[in-house]
Amino acid sequence: MRMHPESMTPSASLGDVLRLVHSERSMKQAVLRLLRGTEGSVHPEARRSQSVWELHYERLAEVGLVASQEEGVWTLTERGHQVGTYLAQCEAGDELDLMFSRLDCQADSVFLDLGCGAGPALIKASELSTPPQWMIGIDIDRSSLVAADAALGGHRPQCLLIQADLSALPIRDGAVTRVSSRLSLPYVDQRASLAELGRVMAPGGQAFLQVHSVGFYLRLLWDERLQWKRVILNGFCLLNGFMFALFGVQLKVPNRHGLYQELYQTRGGLAKILKQQGMTILWSERDRLFRVLGKKNGA
Ligand SMILES: C[S@@+](CC[C@H](N)C(=O)[O-])C[C@H]1O[C@@H](n2cnc3c(N)ncnc32)[C@H](O)[C@@H]1O
Repeated sequence: MRMHPESMTPSASLGDVLRLVHSERSMKQAVLRLLRGTEGSVHPEARRSQSVWELHYERLAEVGLVASQEEGVWTLTERGHQVGTYLAQCEAGDELDLMFSRLDCQADSVFLDLGCGAGPALIKASELSTPPQWMIGIDIDRSSLVAADAALGGHRPQCLLIQADLSALPIRDGAVTRVSSRLSLPYVDQRASLAELGRVMAPGGQAFLQVHSVGFYLRLLWDERLQWKRVILNGFCLLNGFMFALFGVQLKVPNRHGLYQELYQTRGGLAKILKQQGMTILWSERDRLFRVLGKKNGA
């Protein structure tokens, strides 16, 4: 359904505004432009070359995604930032190409994306030359699922979106043949979530897991060295990854969202925990990210 901003108010729901920006490519580009632009705004000097975008910004302003601070200076509102972040998640083309070149989806595959966010892996899976028969996206965050719902468009009927914690998957044993997890595992309980992964995978099933390597946090520690709160957080993730790799202990600290337990993973640590779930690593690669293709034994 094509959405018209004229029929929507600034208090339109997140789902409605997401469907609006997904309905036209140029609307998506306009939000991403502001998200990535200099300090999130377009300055008057650059206005002449930007004038082609003005119309889009005005339409986005009607639904509360952008605001005009002064004539010709547009910025994303808080809601606009949220929408832009979801759109940016779906721009991970190269990483997704790499993932699906390894994860051999078949026409009868049941594909599960753990921590699906705004749905980039689900969208990519649905666009494969041989898309999976069914897709399931799981995320703990309801707004992310609303974003995935809007982004999936015509592919939505093949996809089940579920709000759940990765440490307690509402899926029966052995029901899934292909699994992906892009940057969601670093934030969860490693033992419980990887046990759930092993439980729901069918024998012979494959999982592509993307996690953070130690280099990811070392780099952040350096880049964010002047922000003391970030230094503490990055230091915590490094200590936590070290504790987990050496002693199998994951530290958990209460925060306003629940428990903070972020960490890096090592090939050895992941191989050990996957082995306990009856899985073998077939391939891995490490730079700032750490990518693993695993197979559930037994087929
Ligand atoms: C960095 S985002 C990655 C999103 C998506 N996989 C992508 O490729 O863009 C991490 C996602 O993991 C989800 N997440 C974090 N902890 C979770 C948990 N315990 N259970 C389920 N999802 C979780 C977050 O809500 C978020 O959507």
